[in-house]
Amino acid sequence: MRWILCCLLYICLAWAKEHLPDYAPGLDTVTHVYVTNVTYMDADTSRQEEEYSRLQHRLQRSTGKWDSSHPRHRLLTALHGYHRYRERNLVETKKWRDWYKKAPKRQRSMVESAVKYTRKLNAVDHLLETNERLAHDIVEYGLRFYNVSRAELEAFIKENEKQGVNTDRTSVSQAMKHFVRDWSSDGLDERQEGFPCVLGTLGNMSRTAAQPLRVLVPGAGLGRLVYEIDALGGFDVTMNEWSAYMNLAHRYMTSLSGVNSVSFHPYIDWWSHHATTADMQRSVSFPDRLTTPSVLSVEGDFTTAFAGDGGYDVIVTFFFIDTARNLVSYLETIHRLLRPGGKWINLGPLLYGSAPFLQLSLDEIIMLSEQIGFRFEDTDASCGVTTVPGMKARGLEVSYGRNGQGLSKNAYQAQFWVAARA
Ligand SMILES: C[S@@+](CC[C@H](N)C(=O)[O-])C[C@H]1O[C@@H](n2cnc3c(N)ncnc32)[C@H](O)[C@@H]1O
Ligand SMILES: *[C@@H]1O[C@H](CO)[C@@H](O)[C@H](O)[C@H]1NC(C)=O
Ligand SMILES: *[C@@H]1O[C@H](CO)[C@@H](O)[C@H](O)[C@H]1NC(C)=O
Ligand SMILES: *[C@@H]1O[C@H](CO)[C@@H](O)[C@H](O)[C@H]1NC(C)=O
Repeated sequence: MRWILCCLLYICLAWAKEHLPDYAPGLDTVTHVYVTNVTYMDADTSRQEEEYSRLQHRLQRSTGKWDSSHPRHRLLTALHGYHRYRERNLVETKKWRDWYKKAPKRQRSMVESAVKYTRKLNAVDHLLETNERLAHDIVEYGLRFYNVSRAELEAFIKENEKQGVNTDRTSVSQAMKHFVRDWSSDGLDERQEGFPCVLGTLGNMSRTAAQPLRVLVPGAGLGRLVYEIDALGGFDVTMNEWSAYMNLAHRYMTSLSGVNSVSFHPYIDWWSHHATTADMQRSVSFPDRLTTPSVLSVEGDFTTAFAGDGGYDVIVTFFFIDTARNLVSYLETIHRLLRPGGKWINLGPLLYGSAPFLQLSLDEIIMLSEQIGFRFEDTDASCGVTTVPGMKARGLEVSYGRNGQGLSKNAYQAQFWVAARA
């Protein structure tokens, strides 16, 4: 059977070679099969294995200085966070119960008879148990994948808790909410706002099956965009992510073998903007499609994780550049990692966070990028309306982490551009 398939594939391959020197939109299926199964299967495995041993090396306690920014320390901290998912969230619901008690008794009995508020609090405490099972599975898979013993994690947790170190509830919850954004049908609307422009731009790039374009996506989160790029065919895709919370969730994702085999209640930790309590408590299933082993994930800080120059034909930054502490380092790293003529595709807002060294406006980012050695290119009108006259960036309304059934709508005028390394 396998042999027959191979033959069929080679026929496709021969045909494709004759007739498709470049990828043609509409013929993705044929060429994708060829790319996945015949040419790169072995290359994929060895790429994965090499990166895994590099990862294991970086994770050794003896590699570098042992402190809270050591990769193993960050991994253990994130494991601790998932491990305490339920306890940390129960602290919150306990707080809500206590606040509720501040309302006079007469009002509370009216509320109870009208809407059974205590029952709602109890229900959420109960639903936290479902979410805890997911958090628990993430920890279990993480221990296996990263080759960390339970004893080591337990000792780490014990030491942390002895010192009164609190876990980061928000990072756990945010990473878990990305299952919705990236891997559930609930996230589809949001993905359809931002993905088509990026995928369309990549899909239009000329490439051959024999020589795929090397694409890097830094700050990829749970990576759906990366897997969609991979599915276009003719790309050799690498994702990069710094957060151990995200990486644990992504690794867990790759372990799943059934479509929509996991469900949880992503909205129970924030009670604002709900039309009904049923909406707030609803469960969301994932993954709506499975991952493929052809995507390589390189963990770590984008600015230091990649040695060498010019290794990539395309770098895609999607909701990423504004996460920089030092934006100039991001721009210089993108420039260094692209081959001359290579393309930088960006889509995202300018929402500066955590103590940035500098906070530039769009026009300043474009001027600085040109100074660094990028040439901004004309882009398709389907990717939005020109934001600053005379500058080649387009604005596209894209939301992020939105509850599709919620009563709030927070969207960015995300900026899209394509620039070539001059
Ligand atoms: C706003 S999120 C976007 C995630 C994903 N691109 C998406 O659209 O869902 C930004 C991501 O960049 C990651 N990140 C921040 N600084 C990073 C760095 N120096 N290297 C790699 N990833 C980084 C964060 O951990 C976070 O997951
Ligand atoms: C291609 O490879 C994948 C994974 O190795 C396998 O599941 C799939 O059946 C293969 N497809 C064909 C057409 O051989
Ligand atoms: C896993 O860790 C153990 C002990 O820390 C080590 O002996 C073993 O070689 C590791 N396995 C892998 C695959 O790295
Ligand atoms: C890709 O190319 C097609 C055909 O030229 C064009 O219609 C489409 O708008 C392009 N898409 C993007 C995102 O550039």
